[in-house]
Amino acid sequence: MPDSGRERIVTGADDEARAERGAAEMLSERASINSEAPGMNDLRPRRFTEYIGQRQVVNSIQIAVEAAKHRGDTLDHALFHGPPGLGKTTISQIIAREMDTTLVHTSGPALERPADVVGILSNQKHGDVLFIDEIHRLSHAVEEYLYSAMEDYRVDFITGSGAFAKTINLPLQKFTLIGSTTRAGMLSPPLRERFALTYHLDYYSVEELTHVVTRSASILSVAIDQPGANVIASRSRGTPRIANNLLRRVRDYAQVRREGKIDDAVAAEALHVEGVDELGLDRLDRLYLETLARNYGGGPAGINALAASANEEVQTLEDVVEPFLLKIGFIMRTPQGRRATSSGMLHVGAPLSAARATDAGQGPLI
Ligand code: ADE
Repeated sequence: MPDSGRERIVTGADDEARAERGAAEMLSERASINSEAPGMNDLRPRRFTEYIGQRQVVNSIQIAVEAAKHRGDTLDHALFHGPPGLGKTTISQIIAREMDTTLVHTSGPALERPADVVGILSNQKHGDVLFIDEIHRLSHAVEEYLYSAMEDYRVDFITGSGAFAKTINLPLQKFTLIGSTTRAGMLSPPLRERFALTYHLDYYSVEELTHVVTRSASILSVAIDQPGANVIASRSRGTPRIANNLLRRVRDYAQVRREGKIDDAVAAEALHVEGVDELGLDRLDRLYLETLARNYGGGPAGINALAASANEEVQTLEDVVEPFLLKIGFIMRTPQGRRATSSGMLHVGAPLSAARATDAGQGPLI
């Protein structure tokens, strides 16, 4: 296994690699994660000791990992759920590194046919971590192969058809499946029940994100003071991935428009230019709220209608935009549809009586 410290990514265009590795591996990436040297732009923590936040989750996994290592066993299957950008992939990579093993990365939508999943499962080496992102998007046919693979480390599949049909029982190496999803509710009970370890990742506090920003700034060799880091953290919607992205944007602004150093004023100016407001809402969050407020009088509005009016994907609104707006109490999900709360309406300057005053013909404000 190469140990460059970077993930090996093979694309469909890479014909030579495709021929070398076979179709099954094309659906996944075998990550070389054991090196201690971070890639130039890699801000992800590489060990549990570097991980900031999610204390309960991290403590529990550390115990499970240590115990498995002590027994010389593989780690039980684990499921991580929660909004995007909170560290589901990062924690899985740390697990594989701490277990001193390899992480094979794939996703629900990539595993289209049963042959795809059988191919990947049969390629697992003892102790490998198979990481399936967006596991809620597996087809039912593919999911069924996981049941015996997870429970008994074997897959049964049929080759040929009619009189030539034959069942093959394929034993597998003992591996660990890590599933990651933004929608735990969409997982079928039989699949959910096969994960011995289940963890929910929640939004980070501003204090935790201030630490993340400070740590990342030091890796990127960016000069930032505490109030500057705090401004970025408080506008990152509880999400480290956003905090790191905003840090990079503020760094660029500081470099081009200021003297390179980030303080609270520079951070606030830069984020204003980026269209990120004091609560961290960006243009898409505000477009959602304004569409709900102005086009639908604050709701209730169905998600399909909202997505069509805002010209956005339903899934983006459900997975990326709504969770934080729900968390800060700007919207509610009701059986009749989405509703903006009065604080949500006020945030986009919509009159609270808008429910009655709405002009159905009026388009979104942005
Ligand atoms: N970078 C992104 N997420 C992080 C975390 N939870 N801890 C430290 N650095 C991070």
